[in-house]
Amino acid sequence: MKPYDFVVIGSGIAGLTFALKAAKHGSVAVITKRKGADSNTAWAQGGIACVTSDEDSFELHVADTLEAGAGLCDEAAVRTIVMEGPTRVSELVEIGLHFDDREIGGHREPDLGREGGHSKRRVLHVQDVTGLEIEKTLLRELERARQVELLEHHMAVDLITAGKLGFATEDRCLGVYILNERTGEVETIRTDRLVLATGGCGKVYLYTTNPDIATGDGVAMAWRAGAVIANMEFIQFHPTCLFHPLAKSFLISEAIRGEGGILRNDRGEDFMEQYHPQRSLAPRDIVARAIDAEMKRSGSKCVFLDITHRSPEFLKERFPHIYETCLRFGVDMAKQPIPVVPAAHYQCGGVKTDVNGATSLPGLYAIGEVASTGLHGANRLASNSLLEGLVMAHRACDASLREQPTSHAARAIALPEWESGDVQIVDELVVIYHNWDEIRRLMWDYVGIVRTEKRLQRASARLRNLQREIREFYWNFKVSVDLLELRNLATVAALIVDSALSRKESRGLHFTLDYPALSDERFRRDTLISRT
Ligand code: SIN
Repeated sequence: MKPYDFVVIGSGIAGLTFALKAAKHGSVAVITKRKGADSNTAWAQGGIACVTSDEDSFELHVADTLEAGAGLCDEAAVRTIVMEGPTRVSELVEIGLHFDDREIGGHREPDLGREGGHSKRRVLHVQDVTGLEIEKTLLRELERARQVELLEHHMAVDLITAGKLGFATEDRCLGVYILNERTGEVETIRTDRLVLATGGCGKVYLYTTNPDIATGDGVAMAWRAGAVIANMEFIQFHPTCLFHPLAKSFLISEAIRGEGGILRNDRGEDFMEQYHPQRSLAPRDIVARAIDAEMKRSGSKCVFLDITHRSPEFLKERFPHIYETCLRFGVDMAKQPIPVVPAAHYQCGGVKTDVNGATSLPGLYAIGEVASTGLHGANRLASNSLLEGLVMAHRACDASLREQPTSHAARAIALPEWESGDVQIVDELVVIYHNWDEIRRLMWDYVGIVRTEKRLQRASARLRNLQREIREFYWNFKVSVDLLELRNLATVAALIVDSALSRKESRGLHFTLDYPALSDERFRRDTLISRT
């Protein structure tokens, strides 16, 4: 396969934004394992947190982000991302995205949403389908762009690095092996600038708000290539996912609580009163833990989100997607409270990067949810992630253009083709599906909202066994998407558990009954892991 100046893996807001900018400077391949629009971005309901109103300020947005991050944000990264947000958002508007607005004092102003942890209304949105509209806008632009190839149904297998090939040059990323799902062949792509924009890892948990693609591919590949991974213990659980046996992964946006929605327990009580002064709009970690506690206390299978005091007209106009979807499952949110449960939602850690998206491995960049820039710290402020993906894509593109090209020695290295040997096709798919289910269930039961050392140890032991079995599969059978996703899921699960075990305190999203307090001296630092 031909070389590209830039290779981007992933087609959400970060990957597509990078590709559009990079295509002005060279050839770009966007690799995506399903269709172009299959990304976490397309599922984002809330919107983009961005300072646009006179009543708001960068200082307030920075302060809210730092407060949510529980002492682990990188303040310089927070400032950069918050302050570059408005410019990047206006570029989205220039290419055709129209955020909701409303008439105020004779002129139109953005209709800003509110979510937990924000001291001001600052969330730009398109009804409750912001991510989908962004995705469509960017894909439309990509179709028009020259020098970009969108390779759908191609899945990255592993990064190719000088170190792994045994060359005595500086270690750096040289390319990537890609499984072409249509032919079943693994192709070799060479590039000097490889960008991971693969999103998160929600599918590592039994219950998640994420789409099926969220299997932690970027973190797993970067870890295998020797890059530094940070803060994987901080998995954000969204408090409100629709509770219905047939409604797989359907998010009920926090924006509903921003518009006055109240969480109630099975007795109809506004139970958040007992947990936090901001009640239903308290920071997400607190709300998710409170729901978990209420459900455990009462033995009920869910709690309820009540927005019946708002008019049906308002609900249909502001939340058409949620309204229609709930109705399809027999819940009229204008008349009855919505049954909800918490579910895994966002990976706050990831591949460690600087504020330009550069990882510890030269030639490798990470942007969007796969990356750990320092914006989120121990807990992400709602709707900061689309903002991060947008800003970091631009910064990473600029940085990659400034980067020195690979040395002559590295360029002289011929990349070996993928060797399949005479490996067989996996005959018993049931083993893959069984292992997949086992990982997701054990992560939910042992590494969920509330953790203990004993449960984490138990998860660790099980995962080691599963990883051994999966390694055997990987070497003895022809690779397939299912097998690759399982391998990545197991790797990421183990990284989450190892990171959680090393943090002997409760901070942000990591809450353990064995160390319920915050320990400032020892643990006010990132959890860093690398294979090397
Ligand atoms: C939501 O709409 O509740 C999700 C927003 C986010 O996770 O940032």
